Amino acid sequence: MMGSSEVAMHALSGAVPARFSPNLFANAPHVAIPYKARGKYRRKSHALSASCSTSRMRNGCLRDYGFRNMNNRLLSLKCKCQRAESTSGDASKTWFTEPVSKADQILGELNGQKVVDFENGSVIMLNDGSVNQSSEKTRGNSVEDEAWRLLQESVVYYCGTPVGTIAAKDPSDSGSSVLNYDQVFIRDFIPSGMAFLLMGEYEIVRNFILHTLQLQSWEKTMDCHSPGQGLMPASFKVRTVPLDGDDSATEEVLDPDFGEAAIGRVAPVDSGLWWIILLRAYGKCSGDLSVQERIDVQTGIKMILKLCLADGFDMFPTLLVTDGSCMIDRRMGIHGHPLEIQALFYSALVCAREMLAPEDGSADLIRALNNRLIALSFHIREYYWVDKRKLNEIYRYKTEEYSYDAVNKFNIYPDQISPWLVEWMPEKGGYFIGNLQPAHMDFRFFSLGNLWSIVSSLATTHQSLAILDLIEAKWSDLVADMPFKICYPALEGQEWQIITGSDPKNTPWSYHNGGSWPTLLWQLTVACIKMNRPEIAARAIEAAEKRIAADRWPEYYDTKRARFIGKQARLYQTWSIAGFLVAKLLLKNPDAARNIWNDEDADIVNALNIIVDSNPRKRGRKVLKKTYII
Ligand code: GLC
Repeated sequence: MMGSSEVAMHALSGAVPARFSPNLFANAPHVAIPYKARGKYRRKSHALSASCSTSRMRNGCLRDYGFRNMNNRLLSLKCKCQRAESTSGDASKTWFTEPVSKADQILGELNGQKVVDFENGSVIMLNDGSVNQSSEKTRGNSVEDEAWRLLQESVVYYCGTPVGTIAAKDPSDSGSSVLNYDQVFIRDFIPSGMAFLLMGEYEIVRNFILHTLQLQSWEKTMDCHSPGQGLMPASFKVRTVPLDGDDSATEEVLDPDFGEAAIGRVAPVDSGLWWIILLRAYGKCSGDLSVQERIDVQTGIKMILKLCLADGFDMFPTLLVTDGSCMIDRRMGIHGHPLEIQALFYSALVCAREMLAPEDGSADLIRALNNRLIALSFHIREYYWVDKRKLNEIYRYKTEEYSYDAVNKFNIYPDQISPWLVEWMPEKGGYFIGNLQPAHMDFRFFSLGNLWSIVSSLATTHQSLAILDLIEAKWSDLVADMPFKICYPALEGQEWQIITGSDPKNTPWSYHNGGSWPTLLWQLTVACIKMNRPEIAARAIEAAEKRIAADRWPEYYDTKRARFIGKQARLYQTWSIAGFLVAKLLLKNPDAARNIWNDEDADIVNALNIIVDSNPRKRGRKVLKKTYII
């Protein structure tokens, strides 16, 4: 039997046995989820092949690459639902009866409190003797009750257990117009998961974590190319398929999409990062640390880290990714080192460090992680930050400096400062730019990256407060009629043509190109509570509450002031529902937000102070050279 470190190292080195070891779950006898090989839970009737000839490639045989030795195990591990319909039906009933009543109780209490506050002490609803009827009435009236009901309805089951939430459940959508919105997206589930955690519903989150772990890539392929292990899928779907060799029975399979079917074939770099963040929140909220301590979960964390920390050609500590690798999953000119990915990367590193079991085998990985954290936070805080003072500095930059001590390290031409920004930058406040490359600063304000920089403490306290100052100062641009603009400003005219490829979905002030996404409310709320400025979130939630339910929970809104429901927006979009619900729940119980944010790390602060103290002129180069050991 292998020790845990051996197992982890095997997995990290790419050897297969760790995933096949029947001992992997030995430490978790209560775990109901069977151990399976990573990848699709159940293959459809493909020919098995460990090698791939050209002709088979054309036939798409690579979906089966590497499965030769796994078939027997897969057959014994797949979920055999005699009749999937009836099995899941019963199980869903079981799940809903007990846990939901627990959650209802919480909502009831919240509503009770709300009524008490609202009615100024006249507790009619709670004391009139017909508690159920009255609370029912109140629940029916409240937008968050509707959100909670819709969230429950969006739950997806796999063999009778809740494993995630569907991206959108718009009854008016049918056939091909559904696209992949009938799938469970990893990133979309995060606010759902947070809502369930806040409501004391831990099971679905635990199942989600463990099932997606099983899907973590080890055989994903596209046109005969298998990139590194550790990638989490963008989404997965539960499919009911006929059972092999038995026409009268069906079985359910979990079918992940790593981007090989996604529109634009974009790789979801953010999925694994979000997975780590949710795993940590699960432990903090439920108090159940046994999930993160499991060997397979530890291995999963390490695989994600290894993929992110792998050496490449890049000179920067930021993650280099392609366009569309995150929430903005279409061409929007964010390839390179987009802020959103960096903030999630930083957050995932901090969360992983908290959860990784110390053991000899992972010392190198933890050292690499620590070095990267320091380098990354220095890089973002120093080079991505803009406020009026910094902008003025860039405006006066000299260019073409060849030296270690260059002030204008990235050779930014001052003419790049967009005319809109000169007017837009407020006296008080600042933000992190969207991207930084040689001779290129993308000055657009990207909301998720900025908000998550606050939540993860990638931003300093001063910067965090300044970002919130900017949000307040630019309220009519960033919030207006519906929070929250995904980025500001929109690309227009020739820029839109060149950068998006004239994308008809991303026209100016629509969708990813300056559209407004209600799901961002929850990240805004965590950030505001963390910085002790909840009133900003409360104001945004109030704006959303005015119309979000009446508008049927759209995925996004269009126009500069978010006046219209988005051109192609789904209705009853789950993460709009969950984002709103989480925001409401957190405002009522701000202490719970602690389970989501990361406090500033003293070691990182010390290391950064040393960098700054050592030599303000040459800061960065000297110390990074000393500490950046990979
Ligand atoms: C869109 C969004 C993406 C989201 C998906 C499902 O593609 O851009 O971020 O995950 O829809 O809601």
